[in-house]
Amino acid sequence: MTLPESPAYASYPSLVDRTVFVTGGADGIGAAIVEQFARQGSKVGFADINAVKAAETLERCRALEPRHLPRFYEVDLVDVDATQEAIRQAQLDLGGVAVLVNNAASDDRHTWQEMTAEYWDDRLNTNLRHYFFAIQAVAPDMIAAQDGSIVNIGSSSYMMQEDFFPGYAIAKSGVEGITRTLARTFGPDNVRVNTVLPGWVATERQLTKWWSEEGEAGTLSDQALKRRIVPAEFAQMVLFLAADDGAACTAQEFLVDGGRR
Ligand SMILES: NC(=O)c1ccc[n+]([C@@H]2O[C@H](COP(=O)([O-])OP(=O)(O)OC[C@H]3O[C@@H](n4cnc5c(N)ncnc54)[C@H](O)[C@@H]3O)[C@@H](O)[C@H]2O)c1
Repeated sequence: MTLPESPAYASYPSLVDRTVFVTGGADGIGAAIVEQFARQGSKVGFADINAVKAAETLERCRALEPRHLPRFYEVDLVDVDATQEAIRQAQLDLGGVAVLVNNAASDDRHTWQEMTAEYWDDRLNTNLRHYFFAIQAVAPDMIAAQDGSIVNIGSSSYMMQEDFFPGYAIAKSGVEGITRTLARTFGPDNVRVNTVLPGWVATERQLTKWWSEEGEAGTLSDQALKRRIVPAEFAQMVLFLAADDGAACTAQEFLVDGGRR
């Protein structure tokens, strides 16, 4: 089974001119999310530590001749003040943020024996802490507008009991805690909070760092769909939740994993 060659994805009128902020938008799934929002005519800001990859993403976006060219904010999201400052700058450049996609993470491998207190903090700060503080920075705009959508990218890895990166998997389980508790907090102001969870998505990092024939065969055997899931199709669920079409969805987890779990 293969991917449709030219998928005819939906266009969402409500995403035109909507301000969207994406973390980790330079590469992988985040870059696909930036491109897909640019295709919709949204005003996109994205934060990342990798300026080289960000430039490549901007070039791909430019080739789409979008209504608004995305803007890049170079920042290490482990630095909470710098993260919130980047969001403040995006608010000045692009207007009040209506959609936040918390996406940046790092799935570096490690064992429980190697864990130190410092590495524990590093894993939690890289994979979870900035999700909360980015939300803290955008929530006032959303509350003022009485409208907003926050999409937290999780991971099915902890559900699958994958045990080769405990600090990452534990942080990812916390993403759903953020979603569910803040969905209740912000619900009265019509601000929605959801998690979208990838299974295995074939990004450049996955293919160059972690791919093996055996690993892919195992994933495809677990999945109901017997093919790779690619970043652009994962992004479609994020678009739906960001658009008015997803207006009744909050406090939920949506798996885009080819039926793996
Ligand atoms: N690809 C998969 O199979 C898969 C599976 C499960 C979950 N996920 C989740 O999907 C999301 C995207 O993953 P991906 O596979 O595209 O990863 P990726 O490594 O390809 O891209 C992550 C991006 O985040 C950026 N980033 C990481 N740490 C940062 C920091 N401290 N400051 C600023 N930027 C930083 C990186 O530079 C990169 O551009 C993550 O939340 C990840 O946990 C991915």
